[in-house]
Amino acid sequence: MDVKEAIETRRSYRALGPAEITDGIVKELATAAQLTASCFNNQPWKFVFARSKGSLAKLHDCLSKGNDWAKTAPVIIAAFAKKDYDCVIKEREYYLFDLGMAVSALVLRATELGLVAHPIAGFDNEKVRLALGIPEGNMVLTLIILGKKIGDLSALTPQQAGGEADRPPRLALENIYSVDAYDEKLAVKPAR
Ligand SMILES: Cc1cc2nc3c(=O)[nH]c(=O)nc-3n(C[C@H](O)[C@H](O)[C@H](O)COP(=O)(O)O)c2cc1C
Repeated sequence: MDVKEAIETRRSYRALGPAEITDGIVKELATAAQLTASCFNNQPWKFVFARSKGSLAKLHDCLSKGNDWAKTAPVIIAAFAKKDYDCVIKEREYYLFDLGMAVSALVLRATELGLVAHPIAGFDNEKVRLALGIPEGNMVLTLIILGKKIGDLSALTPQQAGGEADRPPRLALENIYSVDAYDEKLAVKPAR
């Protein structure tokens, strides 16, 4: 699978079933993050891969109600970073950007390996931090729900089940880029 195909294949599916996430796969995913660009090569990204029943159960307690679907996944990755590990240039705080870049590489590599890697924001970040013993000052920005896509939709709400076959569309290209100067079409937001 080339990068274009990985970009086009990746979607945030929610019907996830068991998959053997070996130490080798964990290392592959971490390596994709490791090689990401960062401000001054500061590499602020950190990850805890929750794979044991005990650590998964702790994270299940941190999920928002709408994310119950994530409880069938064999691995949940907590992605976090510390602001003072990375560049702050005026109001620009790069630790979140660099962590996002690393997560994106990890997600695409997971896609290439035939897995679904679904980042979520619907969780209590302080609770996750405490559950996994992550030191204070770290921002748990996302949990990445990792597993194999399955056809059994029983863990999903009817709306989520519908979304499995019909992933959300995107804004038109004219609404996301212009050439040489800002275009008013860039002000468009996705309809809700
Ligand atoms: C930062 C972030 C937070 C998200 N939070 C959630 C979430 O809490 N629950 C969920 O089911 N999906 C969540 N998603 C998935 C998005 O809903 C999904 O990426 C978006 O609808 C586009 O669909 P696609 O990823 O399949 O292309 C999140 C995605 C991102 C990047």
